[in-house]
Amino acid sequence: MTAHSTANKQATPSTTPTTHSDRSTMFALINGYRISQMLAVVAALRIADHVQSSPQTVSELARLTGAHEEALYRVLRTVAGFGVFHEGPERTFALTPLAATLLDKADASLRTDAQVIAQEWSWRAWGGLLESVQTGRTAFDEVFGHNTWEFFQTHPDASALFNNWMLVLSRRSADSILDAIDLTSTNVVVDVGGGHGALLRAILHRHDSVRGVLFDTPHVIASARSGFDADLAPRVSFVSGDCFLYVPAGGDVYLLKDVLHDWTDERSLEILGQCRRAMDSHARLLIIEHLVGAPNQRCAGKVLDIQMMVRQGGRNRTEAEFRKLLNAADLKLVRIGAAEAGPQVLVVTR
Ligand SMILES: C[S@@+](CC[C@H](N)C(=O)[O-])C[C@H]1O[C@@H](n2cnc3c(N)ncnc32)[C@H](O)[C@@H]1O
Repeated sequence: MTAHSTANKQATPSTTPTTHSDRSTMFALINGYRISQMLAVVAALRIADHVQSSPQTVSELARLTGAHEEALYRVLRTVAGFGVFHEGPERTFALTPLAATLLDKADASLRTDAQVIAQEWSWRAWGGLLESVQTGRTAFDEVFGHNTWEFFQTHPDASALFNNWMLVLSRRSADSILDAIDLTSTNVVVDVGGGHGALLRAILHRHDSVRGVLFDTPHVIASARSGFDADLAPRVSFVSGDCFLYVPAGGDVYLLKDVLHDWTDERSLEILGQCRRAMDSHARLLIIEHLVGAPNQRCAGKVLDIQMMVRQGGRNRTEAEFRKLLNAADLKLVRIGAAEAGPQVLVVTR
């Protein structure tokens, strides 16, 4: 099964007139950014955590969060209309199943996702989408004057939140990715552009005899090393460098998770070239990304593709585009693993 068969079927061309319900759906789509900003505020102030054990009045929530009481009330009553918290008597708010997804410690918590959407480095880049569409240029670079990775090098708080978000996203999909890959007789896994190594950690947890190499830029490796699980760290080499210049040799398995979609085809070919150089004839490269699905299918790969357009200057790719890219890198796509949830796993050899 490929990515294309898993997504929902969407619109079919129609000659029937637009209905009231179509207009409501469109209105909700247009208003999406307002809701996401409100949810970002709720997430930043940890409102879900504050009402977890019992409902709270808005004045108590304002006291706990240092917020302006009336402004906070206006936001909470609005999101409550969407099922995020329940408004009771006397301006009291209680947790709902939707609000519980924003609890900090919830399984697969969405709190970091809600926060990231409203960060300046995400928000202002998306604000430049029209310019990107008109010029083909990366909005982020136009707004901030340098690319995302240079920005993170000089903005440690933004970098920490981004790396934490990557960790959260990778943890969420790690089990289904691991179910889709066979690591029998693997000794060394090299995670290229591995960030804080969430997938590598999951591999080491599941496979006692595997050793790992976490490879990323110097500032990311410094923070990854200090935050790594103490029980796993002795099995990991932390290597910093530039994957356009070098990729560590000696791996049986190389991981490129959510790395190639950050880059243009030309730059991706340079990374793939370095991976190829590092790989022995028996080594496998696992490219883990959301593929762009078939026309009219709603899929994460298409939305991420626009994120890449405005933020990183890269692109998410269709299966055919990946085949072409790998062919140009003199690498063979052996199969595409169907992870139950999350990204696809492309198994590649020399
Ligand atoms: C989208 S993140 C993916 C992180 C991780 N693979 C994951 O899925 O959680 C891309 C990673 O590529 C790293 N990166 C960017 N430029 C790099 C370079 N020139 N050499 C090595 N890593 C780089 C970034 O620091 C970041 O950690």
